[in-house]
Amino acid sequence: MPASAVNILAIESSCDDTAAAVLSNGKIRANVVAGQEVHRLYGGVVPELASRAHQSHILPVVRQALKQAEMDVSELSAIAFTRGPGLMGSLLVGAGFAKGLSVSLGMPLIGVDHLEAHVSAVYIEHTNIPKPMLCLLVSGGHTQLVWVDEQNNMRIIGSTLDDAAGEALDKAAKLLGLPYPGGPQIDRLSREGRADAFSFSVARLPDYSFSFSGLKTSLLYFLKEQEPTFVQARLNDICASYQEQVVQYLLKVTGKAVQNLKPRSLALSGGVSANSRLREAFRELATQHHIPAIIPSFEYCTDNAAMIAMAAYEAYKKEHFSALSVMPYARQPAEKD
Ligand code: KG4
Ligand code: ZN
Repeated sequence: MPASAVNILAIESSCDDTAAAVLSNGKIRANVVAGQEVHRLYGGVVPELASRAHQSHILPVVRQALKQAEMDVSELSAIAFTRGPGLMGSLLVGAGFAKGLSVSLGMPLIGVDHLEAHVSAVYIEHTNIPKPMLCLLVSGGHTQLVWVDEQNNMRIIGSTLDDAAGEALDKAAKLLGLPYPGGPQIDRLSREGRADAFSFSVARLPDYSFSFSGLKTSLLYFLKEQEPTFVQARLNDICASYQEQVVQYLLKVTGKAVQNLKPRSLALSGGVSANSRLREAFRELATQHHIPAIIPSFEYCTDNAAMIAMAAYEAYKKEHFSALSVMPYARQPAEKD
């Protein structure tokens, strides 16, 4: 490896996946994710169990990433970690580990915002993306439209007022008795169902905001009126119709922003971007507007450390390092120090 190589070890522990990645000069050399099966029993992430699982996973995951990248810790240039937003107990495990490593190796520390990293995931496999770029970021905790200008500055132009798109899918799946996390289950069952079988209502908001709580309530009232045997028999149609409503709603707001602001590219990121119907419809939207659609591969859509490494690489080039006293944050602050 040349002496000038920039090698970054990145750690992601914001929710229920413990992840580590190694980046070398902008290219991902290893990307390891350990999920946490324990939460399935409870139908959702249990914060205390998540932080304990991170504690037992973090060292093996980091070791495996370094092994995959064929890199020794002494060859690293910086240690990156997710500062937030996320579960505080989980974030503290990643932050503590990264700080310890940075002190013992005498290397710079880079705290990364999880949502900025989801947007940075689009740069892992694509270069020379035309800017300004509009990115629809859809995850379990967030739904945002992010404007990225020619200088790579990010600005949130629209957010959800209540539930995130992933939450809307996960909560619907729970109402339907499907296992956690529900998004992939709904995606799978929808492939066998009719998207126009049932209709559920969504809120229409004036700007680029989203609201999903009404959609979930609409499904809840619908289910209350049905016999359980009917719900079982039409499960695929219910999933397909509900998923279609989520997808069409996301695209309607995104389409409005594209129409008004005229970005030169359209990107999709976050865990829900793994959804097959959303990916398809998103590409169609970009084609309609004659701009490229940039959608990361599945492994970079859900929570991963490669996206943290990618965002950290940009920070490294600008020498934006974090002090050892840097603290994680559960919610995105108005301004980060
Ligand atoms: O980005 P992510 O991995 O974690 C957060 O930062 O939230 O997103 C997780 C979300 C969950 O709500 C999960 O149900 C959803 O992404 N998800 C999907 C699919 N795969 C993951 N939703 C719909 N279809 C999928 N194939
Ligand atoms: Zn995420």
